[in-house]
Amino acid sequence: MDPKIRRNIFLNAHADGLKKRMNAHLDMLKFSPRFNAPKHALIIGGSSGYGFASRLVLANQGTHTVSVSFEKPPGNDKTGSAGYWNNTHFMTAFSTGHVDLNQDAFAASTKADVIAYYKERGVTIDLIIYSLAAGARPGADGELVRSALKPIGEAYSGMHLDVASRKLSDITLEPASQKEIADTVYVMGGSDFYDWVKTCDEAGLLSDSVKAVTFSYVGGPITKPIYRDGALGKAKDDLEAYTYQLNEYLQARGGEAIVARLKAIVTKASMFIPGIATYGGLLFDEMMKRGVHETTLEHVERLFRDNLYGTQRIYDSEGRICLDTFELDPAIQAAVKARFENAGEEILMAKGMQAFIDEFYQINGFNI
Ligand code: NAI
Repeated sequence: MDPKIRRNIFLNAHADGLKKRMNAHLDMLKFSPRFNAPKHALIIGGSSGYGFASRLVLANQGTHTVSVSFEKPPGNDKTGSAGYWNNTHFMTAFSTGHVDLNQDAFAASTKADVIAYYKERGVTIDLIIYSLAAGARPGADGELVRSALKPIGEAYSGMHLDVASRKLSDITLEPASQKEIADTVYVMGGSDFYDWVKTCDEAGLLSDSVKAVTFSYVGGPITKPIYRDGALGKAKDDLEAYTYQLNEYLQARGGEAIVARLKAIVTKASMFIPGIATYGGLLFDEMMKRGVHETTLEHVERLFRDNLYGTQRIYDSEGRICLDTFELDPAIQAAVKARFENAGEEILMAKGMQAFIDEFYQINGFNI
């Protein structure tokens, strides 16, 4: 089967390739040192990207996981989405102690189903990971509200990489309107995460030492206009503000809520952000040259072992834990910026750029 990609979105997935990829990751994890892992973890968005890597790392340590994701099953000549197959292969590899809910995480009925599951088993949740990346969320009237990946105030110009054709082109995006900013905050901000934690708490399902963790991105000067200073950045500000609020609440009982600043990786969601593929490929290249490149799995292992359940947390002035220090090394950012601003076809030959593009195919089961 050939890959089908349109505008950096995969339209198909290779089920066998995804099984091989997951098994290779599980083989790597076999050699991982143990850490004091939680017994029960709820992962919102556990089928791909950071959420799926979290699920693999935790399951390898013996954690029971419940994952909520929204994935397309195969049918009508469609292969099903990569996340659907990740879920399927995961459930085959770990036959007991885990459950998948392929349902809309925003829906009250999904929260009720998760609560019913835990109640039936008489166990409490030690860790909630919120790793959702959604393009839309139903509004109060049931109509879908959509996020906008746009800058704020000024237009953004960048270098877009179309992965399927391997062509670079200049792109310009006009600033988001106030409504688009508000909609993006509604879809990708923190209100749903807050609801998940509060709803589980009201049902008596949080253990006293529960950790509630969200993933954020800060980035450097190249990504700032489209990400952190753009509409998506406002959503991250909102997600972080809700997390700090939850932290105060949970700390009073011995738990905590944490914002983890993570590095840029290749995922379905990240490839959708204008300019990110060009930046990501150059970033991989500069990090590889300096020997500080980490795979998604290595990054997530470090998050759990050294940070969430270890003693090596580095906090920034806002109280976020920072795993993005290598990415944000000024020398790396300066090198990537210089190459990004003068980018021509030659960057496609760079080792890190090729690794980045290969990984995009691999997260969909191709070229494995
Ligand atoms: P992804 O696209 O690989 O995964 C998103 C997950 O959300 C999938 O499991 C998907 O099924 C689930 N999902 C989407 N809509 C849903 C819905 N309505 N109901 C239930 N599940 C739904 O995304 P990725 O990149 O791993 O992002 C996860 C988090 O990590 C996001 O908060 C993102 O901002 C953050 N992050 C990502 C970085 C990156 O470079 N990819 C960098 C730093 C942070």
